[in-house]
Amino acid sequence: MTASNPAKVWDAPTRLFHWLIALLVFVSWRSAESGAMDWHYISGVSALALLLFRLVWGLIGGSTARFSHFVRSPSAALDYLRDPAQVKGSPGHNPLGGYSVIAMLLSLAIQIGTGLFSVDVDGIESGPLSYLVTFDQGRTAAEIHELSFNILLGLIILHVLAIAYYRIRHGRKLILPMITGRDAQIPAGEEQLTSVRPIRFLLATTFAAGVAWWVNNGLTY
Ligand code: HEM
Ligand code: HEM
Repeated sequence: MTASNPAKVWDAPTRLFHWLIALLVFVSWRSAESGAMDWHYISGVSALALLLFRLVWGLIGGSTARFSHFVRSPSAALDYLRDPAQVKGSPGHNPLGGYSVIAMLLSLAIQIGTGLFSVDVDGIESGPLSYLVTFDQGRTAAEIHELSFNILLGLIILHVLAIAYYRIRHGRKLILPMITGRDAQIPAGEEQLTSVRPIRFLLATTFAAGVAWWVNNGLTY
């Protein structure tokens, strides 16, 4: 089905967050693998700013970006599993997808958080907060950083497979809405995204950039 007046489903900041975090995870991975650690720190700290932004946006952003919109009870997720048709056609994450978003955000938080305290084997490469921990603790952070990357990668593969599944099994085209913000398979109605004033975007970006800058400076001004 294609609606002549497609519903607004994702606000611009959420879409921008999505494609930027995908890019930064890729750059962080490739830079670490090739030993380009200067680039790794730049992409890692930028990912920290983006994650902080998304957390604030989950509280004050457009309706479909809010945690209160997509963090549902486990029983809602089970009901959805039994009968996906019941929430088909409404904007935003479905009750099950909400859990995968939380898992990815949590995994990103662990990845970025451990990176800040990580130290490499010879103590040359280190995150900006590693001076707060002992060498051994920094090495433990680096080991968790390595392990959590494999978990993050697993979640991302599942994420892309789930999107392919919805396309093949249910005919849902989810990628274009994450680019344009509108979903041609959902007609505009009362339920569509309610957007927010730009001042909130300004507040969220200022907070996120400020905290990331402060952390990158080792918690000093
Ligand atoms: C490093 C790679 C990626 C990460 C970390 C990631 C993470 C996320 C997150 C956190 C969300 C929730 C959006 C929000 O509410 O903020 C999301 C949604 C989404 N992502 Fe990704 N993503 C990645 C790659 C991709 C790729 C390659 C595609 C395209 C195949 C994709 C397509 C989508 C779509 C379509 C949604 C919306 C799903 C829905 O309709 O509920 N993502 N992703
Ligand atoms: C999206 C965020 C990030 C991703 C995907 C990522 C990924 C990786 C990967 C794959 C490695 C190589 C692990 C190994 O095989 O030893 C690595 C190492 C490292 N990362 Fe990150 N990282 C991220 C964020 C950060 C941040 C924010 C920092 C600090 C500012 C950081 C600091 C480090 C350090 C110091 C190492 C070297 C550890 C060692 O050699 O044992 N990373 N990262």
